[in-house]
Amino acid sequence: MPDDTRLRYGGDYNPEQWPPQVWREDVDLMRRARVTLVTVGVFAWSRLEPRPGRYTFDWLDEVLDLLHAADIRVALATPTAGPPPWFSLAHPDALPVTADGVRLHHGSRDTYCAAAPAYRRAARRITTALADRYAHHPALALWHVHNEYGTTCHCPHTEAAFRRWLADRHGDLDTLNDAWVTSFWSQHYTDWAQIGTPRATQYLHNPGHLLDFRRFWSDTLLTAYTEQRDLLRTANPDVPVTTNYVLGDWVPVDHGRWSREVDLVAVDHYPSAVDRDAETQAALAADTARGWSRHGTDGRTGDWLLMETAPNLIYTDGRMHTKEPGRMLRQSVAHVARGSRGALFFQWRAPRGGAERFHSALVGHAGADSRVYREAVRLGHVLDRLAEVRAPVAATVAVTADPASGWALRHPGMPSTRLDHHAEVAAAHGALWRAGITCDVVVAGDRLDGYRLLVVPALYLVDDRVSAWVRDHVHGGGYAVVTYLSGVADEHARVRLGGYPGALRDVLGIRVEEFHPLAVDERVPLTGGGTGTVWSETVHLTGATAVTAYTTGVLHGRPAVTRHRYGAGTAWYVSTRLDDDTYRRLLTEAARTAGVTPVCPGTPDGVEAVRRSGPDGSWLFLLNHTDRPQTVPAAGTDLLTGVTATGAVDLPAGGVAVLREPDTPQ
Ligand code: GLA
Repeated sequence: MPDDTRLRYGGDYNPEQWPPQVWREDVDLMRRARVTLVTVGVFAWSRLEPRPGRYTFDWLDEVLDLLHAADIRVALATPTAGPPPWFSLAHPDALPVTADGVRLHHGSRDTYCAAAPAYRRAARRITTALADRYAHHPALALWHVHNEYGTTCHCPHTEAAFRRWLADRHGDLDTLNDAWVTSFWSQHYTDWAQIGTPRATQYLHNPGHLLDFRRFWSDTLLTAYTEQRDLLRTANPDVPVTTNYVLGDWVPVDHGRWSREVDLVAVDHYPSAVDRDAETQAALAADTARGWSRHGTDGRTGDWLLMETAPNLIYTDGRMHTKEPGRMLRQSVAHVARGSRGALFFQWRAPRGGAERFHSALVGHAGADSRVYREAVRLGHVLDRLAEVRAPVAATVAVTADPASGWALRHPGMPSTRLDHHAEVAAAHGALWRAGITCDVVVAGDRLDGYRLLVVPALYLVDDRVSAWVRDHVHGGGYAVVTYLSGVADEHARVRLGGYPGALRDVLGIRVEEFHPLAVDERVPLTGGGTGTVWSETVHLTGATAVTAYTTGVLHGRPAVTRHRYGAGTAWYVSTRLDDDTYRRLLTEAARTAGVTPVCPGTPDGVEAVRRSGPDGSWLFLLNHTDRPQTVPAAGTDLLTGVTATGAVDLPAGGVAVLREPDTPQ
């Protein structure tokens, strides 16, 4: 029987790009690197079904058998992100149309409309064929549906589906007209047939229209996913099904909503920074994945899986940057620290051709005699030693993130073009990261039992339920830090009247009268030495007290950060984007008041500490992201070296330690 207690280690594997003798070498190299799971078949549709209804499974049979014989398990993908040329030629109506009305052509990947009946039929057919053949294959550990759902379309199929979705959501046109405030600019609809997708238009779109289209499209992609999932589940209910989420605020997918529909949350994460921000981005991705995993569940541990990341390269600023030796290992262990059941990469072997021929790989064009492969072997050995860590990640702070707020804040008619929900979430998360405090990124409205401090960054859209959720948390003795723009609009992006932030004025004990967005390089000084950027506003105290105030301009002497006792708890309001240090200090103070301390007090700056603990014991992950040796006050036995530390752990530059803490049984 395959050993499934191992962490998942491996990545996207594309045997269809290579002759069989390379498969044998691959499997041999995988064994040497202790690879435990590979994702097969993601873009293999044209090799699996070269003509409509004619399948060629022989090569895949052989590959799966080879992998199985080497005790390597398989995440078998449905190849529906890459329809073959014959499909596009036979079904031109299933090719996607851009917002400008341009019909795209075959020639890349993901060139289909997810609402087109022909595409969905073809996707179901290839999924059924794969399920019939492989649902009981002994190598199969996981179904990997599609790849990174995220494309959009404006074709007539989409338009028809959008109208049906709108009718379902709003019931009647009066309700829709009210929700979208169509009295503005003469947009009142009198027939469903008048409503199209938000295509290119003369000037600004209606914000409600845009927002509903994003929601509709997320639901449409979700249906495309669940359709496949159900076919796979029927074929063998014992094999878990997932799809890999692509992260980024441009993605038209509400992943939190999707997470109840997958058996395991799986994310792809590619940092867009070369400096230490890459590590904070990775931590944010991981904490978000964990939050999704826990979303709407009572018992889930928060386990998730890093399905793709680049082994040796970071892509940003128009070029590839080489990761320093050891960074791949450190980043992988950091993901495991935050709940990933392993570390998978894009990709196993770099292809000779194709659009992504220079993308990162564990076996690059240089072959196995290379630094990267040697580091891959070392990583395999390290991950092997971490398998005993099964306890959940310990977090008593929750940060909300909300894709719909992100979509709504991108509307060009906002008071500033610099409003970015994702950046606000990242700023709050980064401040906690620097403070050494672990948080879960949660979906607004999730259960808050066990969380002492709730951080609400730029949660622009707040419906009555979420408004009550924040209020009840604080009233019942919880703590909250809420930042600017939160609660300004309702779920349809209609502004709540009577002073901002309409949905949260009472719990915050403030009333905001006017916004004063800041210029790109403007920094406003605050009492206490901090500064604000991006945004400022006129805050009136209606029960709260000022923590800091603006010191210049029209806001001179007016509150910038406030604090309000509400019921048995306390809520802070932050009316500007605080500089990094001030933000860290504020969240440290709010956490301290809430009874939350850093994971490992005394940890030097640049060393990340994450604890996983539960009834089976406690493990402390220490990651030195600096280029100097560091000493951390901690105790336990390092799973990587077997060395026991009693009061201080020495980490080499860029090094990691995973301590089984005292009293944890072996
Ligand atoms: C994504 C995709 C992969 C590949 C990588 C390249 O994550 O899922 O197919 O394109 O990016 O970085």
